[in-house]
Amino acid sequence: MPVATRSETSFRVTPLSPAIGAEIHGVDLREPIDAGLRQKLQDAWHEHLVILLRDQQLDEDAQVAFAETFGQPAKVSSGRTFSQKHPSVMLISNIRENGQAIGALPDGEMHFHTDQCHQEIPAKATILYALEIPRQGGDTLFANAYTAYETLPDDIKKKIEGRRALNAYEKDTTIRTSNYDNVGAACWHPVVRTHPATGRKALYVNRLMTREIEGLPRDESDRILDFLFDHQEQPQFVYGHVWRPGDLVMWDNRCSLHARTDFSAGERRLLRRVTILGEKPV
Ligand code: SIN
Repeated sequence: MPVATRSETSFRVTPLSPAIGAEIHGVDLREPIDAGLRQKLQDAWHEHLVILLRDQQLDEDAQVAFAETFGQPAKVSSGRTFSQKHPSVMLISNIRENGQAIGALPDGEMHFHTDQCHQEIPAKATILYALEIPRQGGDTLFANAYTAYETLPDDIKKKIEGRRALNAYEKDTTIRTSNYDNVGAACWHPVVRTHPATGRKALYVNRLMTREIEGLPRDESDRILDFLFDHQEQPQFVYGHVWRPGDLVMWDNRCSLHARTDFSAGERRLLRRVTILGEKPV
């Protein structure tokens, strides 16, 4: 009779909030992930949108291998290199060496967004692993984009049905730029997208990067987007993750948004990120 592995016997899923997110217990990612465990992790991820595995000890190789279990890691597109070995590894950090931040997205608060929505093929998943965490702040907030869509008033649902929105790269993570003519890389995507695995509809706009809705006068587009941003960021749709070193979080960019709370510039914050390529949103 085959012997059950430790992960198979102690695997447990506990929700992190009523809105979104679940913690997975009983998995040590230094051990190989077999097909059964992969399926359980993926099922929990599809159900809860964000999964957390605490107390993990992962080097770059192990984090990339974990990502590869779920798809093809995306190369960092900013032109910076964070790892000599893995083009998909990005550091998120405010730590400075010789005056230069060693990581991307270094400082303070970030508005809600989804990763790489300014690209034609955005990331389906982001895997963030915590190495150094400030004593206070720098929490990552996750919002459920399915329930944001499902709870929209009918007239707004009708207004946005079948429309696309322009998503543009925004370097400054807390300013919604008003100069639409001078945006960086940008891409049109559906305002409401359908998740390829669950078949559920999710609201796919965000305060940081979505600029306008196609086919509407600018003032109407602005008004609707402001409504959608306020709606999707309501506390009942959100879980705030307070990081501990050793936390590994994987979120689904197709049905969730994330933001970051402010933190002291005097404290070190260092996380390692790998994203997984998704598909063209439809
Ligand atoms: C990110 O948006 O990928 C980074 C989130 C964080 O630093 O908490």
